[in-house]
Amino acid sequence: MRPLSFLAVSSLALIQSFAAGLTLPSSEAQIRRTRRSVNAQTQQELASVISSNSTIFGPTDANWANETESNNHNIPFYAVSRGHALTTSVGLFKGIEIDMRSLDGIHINSNSVTAQFQGGVYSDEVINTLWNQGFVTGNVYVWTTRKPNGTAVRVNENSHPDLWWAMRGAGHNFGIVTSFESKIWPDNFKTYFVKSYQFAGSSLDALIEQVNKFQGNGTLDPTWLGSFGLYTMNTTLSQTEATITWIFLYDGAQVDAEPALKPFDQLRPLSVDEVNVPYKVINDQIGGAVNGSLCEPNKTHILGTANLQTYNVTAMRAIYDLYNQKISQHPELGGTRVLVEGYAVQGVHSFKSDDSAFPLRDDNILTYFDVRFDSSDDPLIDFATEWRNQTVDLWNAGQPERKPTAYVNYAAGYEPLEARYGYEPWRLERLRKLKSQYDPNNRFAWYNPIIPPNTGY
Ligand SMILES: Cc1cc2nc3c(=O)[nH]c(=O)nc-3n(C[C@H](O)[C@H](O)[C@H](O)COP(=O)(O)OP(=O)(O)OC[C@H]3O[C@@H](n4cnc5c(N)ncnc54)[C@H](O)[C@@H]3O)c2cc1C
Ligand SMILES: *[C@@H]1O[C@H](CO)[C@@H](O)[C@H](O)[C@H]1NC(C)=O
Ligand SMILES: *[C@@H]1O[C@H](CO)[C@@H](O)[C@H](O)[C@H]1NC(C)=O
Ligand SMILES: *[C@@H]1O[C@H](CO)[C@@H](O)[C@H](O)[C@H]1NC(C)=O
Ligand SMILES: *[C@@H]1O[C@H](CO)[C@@H](O)[C@H](O)[C@H]1NC(C)=O
Ligand SMILES: *[C@@H]1O[C@H](CO)[C@@H](O)[C@H](O)[C@H]1NC(C)=O
Ligand SMILES: *[C@@H]1O[C@H](CO)[C@@H](O)[C@H](O)[C@H]1NC(C)=O
Ligand SMILES: *[C@@H]1O[C@H](CO)[C@@H](O)[C@H](O)[C@H]1NC(C)=O
Ligand SMILES: *[C@@H]1O[C@H](CO)[C@@H](O)[C@H](O)[C@H]1NC(C)=O
Ligand SMILES: *[C@@H]1O[C@H](CO)[C@@H](O)[C@H](O)[C@H]1NC(C)=O
Repeated sequence: MRPLSFLAVSSLALIQSFAAGLTLPSSEAQIRRTRRSVNAQTQQELASVISSNSTIFGPTDANWANETESNNHNIPFYAVSRGHALTTSVGLFKGIEIDMRSLDGIHINSNSVTAQFQGGVYSDEVINTLWNQGFVTGNVYVWTTRKPNGTAVRVNENSHPDLWWAMRGAGHNFGIVTSFESKIWPDNFKTYFVKSYQFAGSSLDALIEQVNKFQGNGTLDPTWLGSFGLYTMNTTLSQTEATITWIFLYDGAQVDAEPALKPFDQLRPLSVDEVNVPYKVINDQIGGAVNGSLCEPNKTHILGTANLQTYNVTAMRAIYDLYNQKISQHPELGGTRVLVEGYAVQGVHSFKSDDSAFPLRDDNILTYFDVRFDSSDDPLIDFATEWRNQTVDLWNAGQPERKPTAYVNYAAGYEPLEARYGYEPWRLERLRKLKSQYDPNNRFAWYNPIIPPNTGY
């Protein structure tokens, strides 16, 4: 099977790897004791304490507790990489932010099979740096960490397997990653085929049926990277109903992709756009450009998510009709996005469920609802929250046999812990036990925390 594409990795694996970790070198504790804000100089100092690729630090044991509790006046801290976290728990944080952005090193190992990344790298840098040298990235296979005395310890399936388990799915709760290693694969500068359709509402039911056939029940061939759907207003096309955009990504030549897309050509699309592009711009093609409007800072988002296995036509129709009804009441919310993502998940299924803290290997489809406001006291926030609740409820009502689940990187923060970390009781038990072992003072409690933070610091 071919390696997971970066798209799949970025949503399902790599991101979580940024958030994991272990012991804090005392020099780092020193930095934090003496500075109340972390600036560029501190970042350099931070980089300088990270020697010979040793990489993760955080609170694991009594040394950390001694440093931070008795000497540090208990000031909470929080790592910030690109600052795109949206889950509500992040908003509770008050304290010192550790800016990871200058930890942006990327080094391709001489074997050309693996590469090392520092903990502040972000997708755009990773994609472009590797691609310029003929590679694409794949799965993280090791993190390294420091003992309190500075000795580097690698975390992988053989070394600290308990943390290896926890970091893959619940990493934000366990420390700060300063670097990691990942496999890479040659890209050979080939092109990928991207086809985008816009449809009117009248095509919706037939479209969803065809998409279900295309995706299967998690069986889509990984030559397809996936297909993604979006409801949003395009007022050029209609003032009253949402336009449905569906994008297909194919790893290969257009001519080989075309037969599978014939059924979609026949659904009377309003527009069709076809491009053959290199790997490095695929993420931009699906709206994930580094400076794209989706990621604009300083916005208030009303979010909701519900993972699915297949699309329920009735539910997708009801969500669409609801969208149009809400827009008729408040046309100014026409930027609202209802997004669904169907990756090729055979690679996700190829891991055993209990192999990692990621609990949702049966979920084939990610969804996302997002209303965006310029300020946090917009009078329409309640309206949007109700709309969010209704949309998420419709998604879940479309799969009455399944319990609601939420991918941790799309979670809004109000979902039950079980929905984010798994319903099997042993999962949260194991996570809580590892928390008491590696983060007894719950310092990593700001991103969908397993144990709620003590905000009375
Ligand atoms: C609609 C939607 C679409 C998305 N699409 C994409 C996508 O296309 N590509 C993609 O890559 N991601 C995507 N994401 C996921 C998003 O990237 C995650 O929320 C990610 O955690 C944000 O990382 P950040 O560095 O921007 O945010 P930050 O807010 O800086 O960090 C997120 C969390 O990770 C912690 N953290 C950051 N760096 C470290 C570190 N080195 N060690 C330990 N902890 C750390 C922070 O403390 C924080 O809790 C999407 C999310 C949403 C909601
Ligand atoms: C650490 O990374 C550098 C490049 O950043 C590399 O040259 C070196 O061999 C690595 N050291 C170890 C011990 O892996
Ligand atoms: C932490 O501090 C306590 C009390 O001062 C001391 O007994 C203990 O040995 C210290 N632990 C470490 C690992 O230094
Ligand atoms: C650091 O501690 C580990 C045990 O946790 C030990 O194996 C190692 O030898 C120590 N290193 C130094 C330099 O003291
Ligand atoms: C999808 O597959 C799962 C098993 O993996 C099964 O439980 C479910 O019923 C299937 N859904 C549909 C719509 O076929
Ligand atoms: C709206 O549709 C028009 C016509 O197809 C297209 O040119 C434009 O890019 C669309 N706008 C958005 C924001 O997708
Ligand atoms: C994104 O924006 C930043 C800051 O404005 C800029 O430095 C960077 O070059 C931009 N990146 C791209 C790929 O446009
Ligand atoms: C964030 O947005 C608010 C409301 O529009 C504005 O008042 C504030 O100046 C903005 N802050 C930054 C840092 O851009
Ligand atoms: C939305 O749902 C959440 C979680 O169930 C609930 O707390 C909240 O009150 C609801 N808000 C509205 C406006 O419906
Ligand atoms: C589809 O959703 C409807 C409710 O919207 C529900 O009644 C029906 O059982 C769902 N179908 C399946 C196959 O789950």
